[in-house]
Formats: sequence, structure tokens, C-alpha cells
Amino acid sequence: MNDRLTAPCPYTVALHGAPDLCAPIQNAFAHGGQFAAADILQTHSAAELLAQVRRQPGIGAVILVWSAAELAGLVRQTAEVRRHLADPLTPIFVRSTTPLTPGVRSELRALGIYGPYCREGVNVPVLVEDVLHAIDSAHERRALVAISAFAGNKDAKSSLIELATMTLKFLGENGIGTAGGLFCFLRPTSAPAWVVMAGSGQFQSMQGLPATRLAPQIRTLIEDDATGPAELDDETSLTLRLVTAEGCRVCLYLTQDAPLVAWHRIVAGIFRNRLAVVVDEVMQKRRIERAQHAGIATLATVSEYRDVDTGNHVARVSRIATTVTQILFDRGLVGDGNVELIRHIGHASILHDIGKVGIPDAILLKNGPLDAEERRIMQTHAALGHEILSKTAMTSDWPTLMTLAASIARSHHERYDGTGYPDGLAGTDIPLAARIVAVVDVFDALVGERPYKQPWTEAEALAYLSQQSGRHFDPQVVAAFLVAVQDSQDRVVVEWSAPFSVGHEAIDRDHQRLFAILNQIWQDKQAGNRLVLETALDELMHYTCSHFAREEEYMIDFGYPGYAAHREAHQSFAAQIESLRWEYLHGLRKNIHDDLLDHLWHWLMDHIVEADKRFSHFIAGLGSCPDAADAQAPAAT
Ligand code: FEO
Repeated sequence: MNDRLTAPCPYTVALHGAPDLCAPIQNAFAHGGQFAAADILQTHSAAELLAQVRRQPGIGAVILVWSAAELAGLVRQTAEVRRHLADPLTPIFVRSTTPLTPGVRSELRALGIYGPYCREGVNVPVLVEDVLHAIDSAHERRALVAISAFAGNKDAKSSLIELATMTLKFLGENGIGTAGGLFCFLRPTSAPAWVVMAGSGQFQSMQGLPATRLAPQIRTLIEDDATGPAELDDETSLTLRLVTAEGCRVCLYLTQDAPLVAWHRIVAGIFRNRLAVVVDEVMQKRRIERAQHAGIATLATVSEYRDVDTGNHVARVSRIATTVTQILFDRGLVGDGNVELIRHIGHASILHDIGKVGIPDAILLKNGPLDAEERRIMQTHAALGHEILSKTAMTSDWPTLMTLAASIARSHHERYDGTGYPDGLAGTDIPLAARIVAVVDVFDALVGERPYKQPWTEAEALAYLSQQSGRHFDPQVVAAFLVAVQDSQDRVVVEWSAPFSVGHEAIDRDHQRLFAILNQIWQDKQAGNRLVLETALDELMHYTCSHFAREEEYMIDFGYPGYAAHREAHQSFAAQIESLRWEYLHGLRKNIHDDLLDHLWHWLMDHIVEADKRFSHFIAGLGSCPDAADAQAPAAT
């Protein structure tokens, strides 16, 4: 197989000089066995040479054979050729039958012509070997330049899926994988599995699918534990495996109709090393973002643990605040300049009560109304929260989010009419994010149980919001909130009711939360709002951690014999949700609503209604493991 026949770059050589000197060179290229692929353009005048160089941007090399005594002409002509060549990497060879003076050598060196490029005398076999070697080297350098440009492309680094798609496109444009390519990634979740991040050509429709859906022989290549460098698997396909410094595993499978050549191995090898670095950059960016979100969530949970409604209140506020903000945006009430607000309000809002960490338990958990002094102390949580978060904002890599969180913490108890605290701000002087969180926070507190009050009905709480519109609350935010509530009431897919109860208050409360998440996902199904779904997924992950841990703790405490199987079911559900979430967050799946709803619905019916009830029957001493049929399935609305 002659590699150069199918190499992606040209092997055209422009040859200029006296015909008697050029003839043996042309003959060597034409009849030189493996070098026969080179296409010689012989020119007979300086003007013709320059015309050829200009006309043929893909020239691989230029050979000037000089026999005249006037060496200044050689330098001039070489400089002209260099100037007209489209690609500065194209090598120029000078062969002179006239001895070269030090001055001429120096001038040629300045043009990049020295060493094997500049010789006295014409040794044809050596010249041919040098030319073809130089063309290959130039191709490699071009590949390196192109790969470096690819690796620096911001668009390619915007997400893993973008990187995967652009990688296959780039390789295809460079003649590798022209019939089809697969970019597979080992999903680093609790249940690792190879997934197709992008497909091209014959594999285009495979994007987002697990590698188990690939043809067995390709699947074997992808799932192979080998981590070696680029391999030429056969004449027409190539597998490229890499393990990044961060431990991410990628496998590319590339195939084409024409045979792959050694040139492809060179490009693939260079590309492989650069790709590993870019994959880590993309993953690090995503990991930092998620770690920051997780850190914020942990901070919020810590403060909530001192409160009465562990974790649930802030998660609900986060989800509903995002929905309300989106409605305001859709109505044109949040300008484009506030895009950052829509992006961050869900995460920023969960820290609104962080200042409560500084409030004594005797006041925070008091089972009754606060007196004036206690109320004054309680109100300091707003300024305290602002102080904590402002300090964090100053040292954070994510100042926008933390600044927003600080502003919400300080101003979420301001009132629209100016009678709130701590600054007595009024109207639109109150930051918009704080006006939004104020409505959502009060509503959720009213319908929730507190040590000092019974929960209000939703209708009572909504009536209060309407009554306080323009007084306590921004009227536009209240209007958007009412739309959100109406929307959620109109489109409830399943409502929590007594038959769902497992007879344990804390567990029931957690389960009700899951119902709310399911309904939120259902309501978002049409709108397909990415941020709403992201916050719902975050809340779902929080649910799988906190609720399962709580329930399993009870099981251990009660010595429940079905504990191991129940725990396994929890782990399997959490892994399914985690996997769906990973694929959604990494852009592999644009729409996961149906799968998510399907999982949640089956979880309600198969797990909560049956498995959880078996546990509750056990606690109640009604039996260790009643039949599934004993559990009555409530009707969905
Ligand atoms: Fe309530 Fe076993 O999940």
C-alpha cells in the first residue's frame, strides 16, 4: 500500500531550472517506485514558476535548480517564490551547480532555506528523499497547527457533546472517519456505562444511546479495557482510546471506505493527546459548576437543619422562584439584561435564610410568638446572611451568583410599601430577585407547618398574597406567582391523598415532596424550560439522598427484615435518576421528561404504595411483609 496515494495533502512538486538538470529529477519522481505519486510541475521561466505557485495553492514543495553564476538572482527568485506560496510551511529546495557564497547562504537561511534545503550540486536520489520527507513533515506541522486551533476553540469546549460533535467533524474534514465516526464516553456515575456522545455518517442516529446498542463487534472495541494509543484495527477502521489525566475515558471509532494510511495514524496520534487535555478542561468546568452548586446546597442545608423543615423549604423556594422568574421573563417584565438572574435565581435563593445560623435556638425554634426583642434579634438574620454571602462573593470564582444570593438574603424581608427590614427599601428599589423570593418564601411558610402555627390552606395563602399585593409584595411578582400556581393546579398529574400515606409523618412529608416534583416535571413537559427542569432534578437528587437516608435509618432502628432489599431498590432508583440527570446536563438528551415521569410514576406505584407500605405495616405491627395486593393504589387525577 502506498501511503502517499491517499494522504489528505497534495504531493505536487514545482520544479524549476535548466532542462538538462531537471530531467533526471523529474525522471526520479516519475519512475522512483514509491515516489511515483508525486506530481511534477516543471516550469521553464521565472514568470511561469510564479504563475504556477500562485495558481496551485496546494503545492507540496518547490525545487529550484540553479546553474547561473549570478547568485543574487537566485536569492531574489527564491524570495519571490516564498512570497507567493499560499502556505509558509511549504518547503523550498535550492540546488546550485554554482558554489554558494557565505552571503548568499545567509540570505537563503533568512528565507528558511538551509541544511538539506540548500545544497551545492544535485544528488537526485537524496534530493527526492529529502523532498518527500519535508512534505510529510510539513503535513504533520499543518496537522499540529489545525489540532491546536481545534483545541483552543471555545465552541468546542462549551460542553462535552459539542466537543464530541466537533471532534468527529474535524477528523472527517481531515480525511479520517469519512464514512462514520463514534465518540463514546464512559459515564462516570455510580453505574458507569459507555454512552455515544456523538455519531457521524452512518452512526449519526446513535447519539445519546448506550454503547450496548452498537453492533457487537464495535461494542467490543468500545468497551475494551485497553487504554493504548491509536490503533489501526484494519484497513478501513480506527479505534482511538484515551484516559485523561482526570481519569475520564473516551473511545473514538472511525471508519471509511478508502483504506486508512500511516498518515492517519500520525494525525490521530497528535489529535488523541490534545483531545485528552480538552476533555479534562470541559469536565473540570462542569465539575466546578456542579461543585459550587453542591457547596451552596450544603450551606443551605446546614442552616436549614437548625430550622423546622429540613431541606424542603429552600428546595421548594428554589424551584418555584425559577418558575416565577421565567413567567416574568416570558411576559417581558424581566429584561434581557437580567438573563443572569434567570440562570442563577434558583441556586441563589436557597441561601436566603443562611443568616439564621446566627440566631439562638431559643428564638429560632420557639414554640410560640416572638416578643419585641426576640423579633429584633430574629430580623438580624437578613443583614447577617448578607454579610456572610458578601464575604464569600469577594473570594468566590462565581461572584455573580454569590452577589445575587447576598442581595436576596438582605432584602427578602423588605416590603413593597417600604415598611420592611433591614433597609426600609420600597418598590423597585428592592432588588427584583428579593421581591420574587419574598413572595415565594412567604407563601411556602404559610402553607407549611411551623412550631408557632398550623399550616394555612393554599387558598388562604393565595388570598393573603393577593391582599398584600402592592403592600407587602410587588404586584407583578404576585401576578406571576398566581399564574404559576394556577398552571400547577390545572396540570396536576397525581395528587397526594390519604391512601398514599404510609402512616409515618416525616416519611409522608417527604413523599408529598416527591409528588410536587413529579407534578412540576409534568407541568414543565410542554414548556421544556431547561432551568426549571434542572432545579427539579436537583431537588430530586436531594430527595434521593435525604429521604432514603431517613427511611433507611428508621428501618435499621426498627430492625426491619426487608431492609437490604429495600435499600437496594433505593440505590437502583437513585442510579437511574442520576444517569438521566447526567445525560440531560451534558446535553445528550434534550428531552428526558417522558422517561423521568415514567420512572417516578412507577416508583410511586411500585415502591411507595407497596414497598414503603410493607415497612409501615411492619412498624405498626400489622405483619412483616404483607402481599403487594394489600396495598391500595390511589387513583391519579
Ligand atoms: Fe419512601 Fe422507600 O422510599
